[in-house]
Amino acid sequence: MTRWDALWSGVHLACMTGGGGDPYGTIRDGAVAVRNGRIAWVGARASLPADAVAAEAHDGGGRWLTPALVDCHTHLVFAGDRAAEFEARLGGASYEDIARAGGGIVSTVRATRAASEDALVEQAVPRARALIAEGVGTIEIKSGYGLDPDTELRMLRAARRVGERAGVRVRTTCLALHALPPEARNDRAAYVASVVDDLLPRVAAESLADAVDVFCERIAFTRDECAIVLRRARALGFAVRVHADQLSDGGGAMLAAEFGARSAEHLEYTSAAGVAALAGAGTVAVLLPGAYVLLREAQPPPVDELRRLGVPIAIATDCNPGTSPCTSLLAMLPLAAAAFRLTPAEALAGVTKHAARALGLDAELGTLEVGKRAEFALWDVEHPRELSYWLGRNPCAARIVTAD
Ligand code: NIG
Ligand code: FE
Repeated sequence: MTRWDALWSGVHLACMTGGGGDPYGTIRDGAVAVRNGRIAWVGARASLPADAVAAEAHDGGGRWLTPALVDCHTHLVFAGDRAAEFEARLGGASYEDIARAGGGIVSTVRATRAASEDALVEQAVPRARALIAEGVGTIEIKSGYGLDPDTELRMLRAARRVGERAGVRVRTTCLALHALPPEARNDRAAYVASVVDDLLPRVAAESLADAVDVFCERIAFTRDECAIVLRRARALGFAVRVHADQLSDGGGAMLAAEFGARSAEHLEYTSAAGVAALAGAGTVAVLLPGAYVLLREAQPPPVDELRRLGVPIAIATDCNPGTSPCTSLLAMLPLAAAAFRLTPAEALAGVTKHAARALGLDAELGTLEVGKRAEFALWDVEHPRELSYWLGRNPCAARIVTAD
């Protein structure tokens, strides 16, 4: 006799396994069985083993079941907001002008430094809950609004607590180089050295982050400065990620590839050579349509080239108070489709399979396959392409997750 803890039937499955000309990995009238928090069986209901017994039976009522969503790039722990800055940008000021005038990221740093850990948690939990309501089971959260070791560590601790409070898996990233703090204005090298000699070892000693990220950009840090930090991060055993080529081609994608980064983010200005480097390194391209649209950027990332070279494309909210004040991962799907011309299937793969890979969780999450964690979202749609069509509607009927 085959014994399971739970059996889901009355569902169409978008397994997101791809291949075979069907990027959704569709199984109509499917079934998924769960044992010990893992998928034990997946297939057509008609081919369920005759001797199977499940302790719990769930009927999806003809809805669609997908892997739970993964938001693989957020900055959702922060204090304050920058609505006035957005207004100024609409009036003609650029993101770069505002940053050079001491606003932008640094203004969120001021607010975040002044906030207690509890206050950071309080403000971030509703943002996480908004994502959860859309079927999100895993959220990556970055630091980067502290820019001093104590505040960076406080942000990372707050991020972990947000996961516990809201009931969502959190993966933390130490965004070690995000902006130059005002007090370091006269000595960039000393600031980079303090990240390498003080911040990263402390983050490692307390196991507070899963990865280290850097912002390689003319208003942030040079390739050489980023390389110093990424080298140390790798030596300390962190996975690495790079905010690359968002506002200009600064060779960020190449840098990400050189360090075997898990992901390179934004990529609006990445050259063909940069895309080839990502392909060679197996780095995931994380595209952030919220930041692209709200910054009113004119140059979309090189999607055709990414596709041609088979670079996995993930999509994320980039939830942050400056460029993407958005707590809806679902909203990113139609934006990615309309602004970047991703197909609806690519967009869904971008928040499941490829997003899991960007976090190094692809053996555990992101597809409906035997052995993976039993983490699903149930959708009230006629077809999963609707997830990349509706903007502002949440058809998530249920979210099924498992504890780590
Ligand atoms: O991903 N590009 C750098 N970092 C964030 C924006 C942070 C901010 O403006 O507060 C981003 O867009
Ligand atoms: Fe970001």
